[in-house]
Amino acid sequence: MEIIQSRKDCIEIGRTSSYGNDLLGMLLNEMQKKKTGNGFSINLQLIMDECKTFFFAGHETTALLLTWTVMLLASNPSWQDKVRAEVNQVCNAGSPSIDQLSKLSLLNMVINESLRLYPPATVLPRMAFEDIKLGDLNIPKGLSIWMPVLAIHHSEEIWGKDVNVFNPDRFASKSFAPGRHFIPFAAGPRNCIGQSFALMEAKIILAMLISKFSFTISDHYRHAPVIVLTIKPKYGVQICLNPLNP
Ligand code: HEM
Repeated sequence: MEIIQSRKDCIEIGRTSSYGNDLLGMLLNEMQKKKTGNGFSINLQLIMDECKTFFFAGHETTALLLTWTVMLLASNPSWQDKVRAEVNQVCNAGSPSIDQLSKLSLLNMVINESLRLYPPATVLPRMAFEDIKLGDLNIPKGLSIWMPVLAIHHSEEIWGKDVNVFNPDRFASKSFAPGRHFIPFAAGPRNCIGQSFALMEAKIILAMLISKFSFTISDHYRHAPVIVLTIKPKYGVQICLNPLNP
């Protein structure tokens, strides 16, 4: 509310004529226009709700992706070394640029494997708004359906005998159906709007971390993933960081 008020104040005292061109600014500018073409109008309550959705959907999910990926890299030194060699070769000791990010294919495989084993969103709840026939299934209007992302990502039938093993190599080939068997960001028209942003953010942070530090898992770490809507490490993830080339 304070951020919104300060932007309103800037307009009122004539410092600027627009609320800004970031997402919040765009929503506030839309609110000024009153009604959009289809009669839909944005009010302050809706803007605050959108901000909360973005915070809820975007903050903890990305933080958990980073947490579990660091845990997996710390516990798998050979993959840590491979990813570090790739980052050093592609980024040449600097911060990764946007073109370099797409060349970090081993890091991408590690992130995918982390999202498979520990998908931050473990279930996708849906409600049937009308009677639907899906194959042999009759789904009546009003039925609540939960798509079990975690179970799909841990299905031996889909992923094979090593389903519970950290093996990023499985993402080197597309031997699975991306929109059906691997759905950390859901799929279809209501999939995650922040997917590209989250992956970009995660790659930048992990590339910078891995080029500056080597890390091992602390003796104090107790592996205890718990599901409270998202998958969290119950006792945190304790990591020992050793600076490289200090
Ligand atoms: C690793 C990070 C992330 C994961 C795993 C993730 C996962 C998901 C999933 C599974 C959904 C679909 C939920 C459903 O249909 O029931 C979703 C929706 C959404 N996500 Fe993300 N998300 C991540 C990061 C972000 C970020 C960074 C943002 C915003 C900056 C964001 C914004 C949203 C929004 C607004 C929706 C609702 C989209 C809609 O209903 O049309 N997410 N996310």
